[in-house]
Amino acid sequence: MGFLEDRVAAEMATWGGFKAAGLDAKKISENLARPPKPDMGDLAFATFRFAKEAGVKPPELAAKLIEGAETGGMVAEVDAAGPYVNLHLDHESVISDVLAEVEKHSAGALPQDWRFGDSDSGHGKTLCIDLSSPNIAKPLAVHHLRSTMIGYSIKKIRESQGWRVVGINHLGDWGTGFGKLIAGIKKYFPDVAERAKSDEKPLGDMTVQELNETYARFNKEAKENEDIALAGKDEFAVLERYIEALMDRPEAGEGDLLDAMAREGGQVNFRIWQHARDISLAEFERMYSHLGLSFRLWPVIEEAHKKLLKDEPAAFYRDHCIYVGESYYVTAEDLCRRLINDAVESRVAVEDEGALVIFTHGKGKAPLILVKNDGATSYHARDMAAALYRKRHWELDEMTYVVGGEQKLHFDQLFKALKELGHDWADHCSHTDFGLMLFQQPDGKWAKSSTRKGTAIMLEDLLDEAIAAVRDIIAEKNPELAADASMREHVAHAVGVGAVVFNDLKNGRRNNVKFDWDAVLDFQGESGPYMQMQYVRMLSVTEKFRETYGEPVFENGDPDRLGLDEEWRIVQSLAAFPDVVAKASAEFEPSIVARHLVELAGLTSSWWTATKDTRIVGDDEGLSLARLRLVNAIRKVLGRGLTLLGMELVERM
Ligand code: ARG
Repeated sequence: MGFLEDRVAAEMATWGGFKAAGLDAKKISENLARPPKPDMGDLAFATFRFAKEAGVKPPELAAKLIEGAETGGMVAEVDAAGPYVNLHLDHESVISDVLAEVEKHSAGALPQDWRFGDSDSGHGKTLCIDLSSPNIAKPLAVHHLRSTMIGYSIKKIRESQGWRVVGINHLGDWGTGFGKLIAGIKKYFPDVAERAKSDEKPLGDMTVQELNETYARFNKEAKENEDIALAGKDEFAVLERYIEALMDRPEAGEGDLLDAMAREGGQVNFRIWQHARDISLAEFERMYSHLGLSFRLWPVIEEAHKKLLKDEPAAFYRDHCIYVGESYYVTAEDLCRRLINDAVESRVAVEDEGALVIFTHGKGKAPLILVKNDGATSYHARDMAAALYRKRHWELDEMTYVVGGEQKLHFDQLFKALKELGHDWADHCSHTDFGLMLFQQPDGKWAKSSTRKGTAIMLEDLLDEAIAAVRDIIAEKNPELAADASMREHVAHAVGVGAVVFNDLKNGRRNNVKFDWDAVLDFQGESGPYMQMQYVRMLSVTEKFRETYGEPVFENGDPDRLGLDEEWRIVQSLAAFPDVVAKASAEFEPSIVARHLVELAGLTSSWWTATKDTRIVGDDEGLSLARLRLVNAIRKVLGRGLTLLGMELVERM
């Protein structure tokens, strides 16, 4: 199956033998594959399945199928070899076909207009993707890169297959932890509570790092002292009760209950929480814009985006993701409470040791906790409410959560509980899990960066370091570029960030990623910079052609001149690209695209070597144009592929 296979199958379906056997193009295409050795042909059709259905021996069927085969189109030669029908393709005609196809779909000047590899198989369908989703009041650590970029790439890949994709940042902005944060702030910064009584910004200019330290300090004390721990719980209960009172009385501020709550400190806690959230969001925004993502607060209220969402919803969801924090399901809609009531009424949830739980995995196993024994809503409850909201609001066909593998049980339980409540669509929900990011320790061992051990690595530092390193490399290798300050910064940013991103996406997502600076920045190896370099090199070859022969008209490039083995292999690799993207989309696996690009770049590099003497752009104009035509097609596919991984392309380097 694939672009080339489809073309060849369409031809074969017109042959008498295949017609007589009732094999149409689709069935043929599905059973075409590349044989293990090139002398067995370029493609082979396996007869096993159909021979069995027809009650004949496979070799017999193979022989019958090729009777009266009309070669001379894409298929140059055909023979039956045991159970297989082997096909030798007419390279010239395939090359011509593949290049024309790439050109047809990648006409525009900008990478976002290149569409070879796209399909509309997902037309009319919606995917909700839960991505990034950090906790507020904690700095973004390196592992957040994985959820963000794996998720972002999946979003782009699915969109290329015609899906509407709603990217949702399920911010961790609610939970008992914020009670501890509030209690800690009041304890160590007594003036904050005072400021929170008015509309002043209660936390002044505190940073996320300071919020996190405050939380950690309080948490440590709470572990040693029961009373301190209780104070944390109380602060959260006050906050949650205040919110509930707000919701019971939409005419907020009038009721006695609300007044009472406010007097008890609900409003103060609410303001502290809100401000901690604002501070965190401002910092997250910085990081997301580095990575090329845009998140809008949900519900969208600022005018410009509200208008975009209303007038051009498809463009809104393509260009923006949304923040729908956990608090949304508690504060803005009482989805959480409704969900809990439902679960109780239907007896899916039961009481257990003072908590409300769902035994998703049987009585003996740890249950899903819906409401904690202190009455607070749980992470699970908010996730269930979120799932219901998403289903209702976006009428999603599929939903996936891009979250580390350590939360596997959480999602197993979530999906099971949804089904127990009668939501069979939970079968279309999945956990797109991923491995850890590992760093080499002084003792040589690889370990994850950890806040607890004080070895946490901040995402911002990591990106800054990558950008600085690329800046240095440019200064050394390309002084002309280095002299142009704004161009240099643009390139250092795109290549530096791209290096980190490519390193993250190039291996199967379930693998742990070893973060090794030498490999990340290696301009020779399987790295982001290497990919970008190949791309830039193809641009300069094109420029050279222009200088020598004038503006190229690619369509005039004669495929007959592309007779090198390397060229044939590149064309096969280009032809496989649509299938590769479709597979990456189905499996939520960006590395399938990344691996293919590594292969394509490798083949291209061998081609550079093979053409060293005659050059890509040399003395023979016809040969040069034919080769440049191939260069152009590679560049478009490589460029499109890198864009699907969420990388930004550069034109110089
Ligand atoms: N905030 C969580 C964390 O940092 C991840 C949330 C993932 N998404 C979800 N819907 N549970 O661990």
